[in-house]
Amino acid sequence: MEEPRRSLSDGIYGEELERRIGEAAAEIAGRLTAIPGLESPRLAFVLGSGLGNVVELLDAGAQLRIPYGEIPHVPTAAVAGHAGELVAGHAAGIPTLILSGRAHPYEGWSHRQASLLLRACLSLGVDTVVLTNASGGINPEFDPGDVMLISDTINLSGDNPLLGPNLDRFGPRFLPMTDAFDARLRAGARAAAQRAGVTLREGVYLMLSGPSYETRAELRMLRTLGADAVGMSTVHELLVSRHHGARVLGFSLVTNKATPEMVGEVTHEEVLAMGPIGAGRLLAILRELLPELS
Ligand code: HPA
Repeated sequence: MEEPRRSLSDGIYGEELERRIGEAAAEIAGRLTAIPGLESPRLAFVLGSGLGNVVELLDAGAQLRIPYGEIPHVPTAAVAGHAGELVAGHAAGIPTLILSGRAHPYEGWSHRQASLLLRACLSLGVDTVVLTNASGGINPEFDPGDVMLISDTINLSGDNPLLGPNLDRFGPRFLPMTDAFDARLRAGARAAAQRAGVTLREGVYLMLSGPSYETRAELRMLRTLGADAVGMSTVHELLVSRHHGARVLGFSLVTNKATPEMVGEVTHEEVLAMGPIGAGRLLAILRELLPELS
């Protein structure tokens, strides 16, 4: 009799997914032994478009850069200008991994593939994750350049990284997602922004698959649904981080207006051009917050 077959089209789930995560983690772990104290990383940052400056948070001293292409099973990022690299070092004394560049689901990666590197990092002991992205501001009060603390998410991307047999070694089959962002870290982020003199917005991030930007009718719908910002990443990373039981904090850089009334259209160039403004503000917040992330 023929075995019943699951229909996840990437073929990467269950034991196969676990094997790939294990091989990626083993490669990273082997490289980390080169720097004393980095064998057990605790903190991870995932950097969105234009946020490469976050690596400045790393203390002077030994750092390690591993191109994504050298880690088995990790998809390379096509859009950010470079293929992506894992940067390791200490930040305020905390052993830290920075995922600089991400492969996006809109490039054709399933949520399981797109979150595989983060899964590998989590399996090495990372217990605090800071997620960042660029987004369109649905909330009419938001301006390009604003930094938004993500209070909650809506997943309208059409995928979920936890689909398929559950990886019981990492977390539960049915994952609670109320209060997914750590309340204490969020309070810390608000206080850090105040100390840094940066206005911090706060709101709900909604993930779509992209890669097309939204129609006016979609923007009207998204506002009605309770979204403050819209983008094409992050929620799958939040899901795997919570699956592993890590504390998560998320920031979204609003790069453009995304309201039904907006004049003209969004362009990728506009999104990239606004990145550095928000990135400078976010870095100022993170510098203040870093000591609390240990
Ligand atoms: N829509 C979706 N994703 C985005 C946008 C947007 O307007 N801006 C930056 N990422």
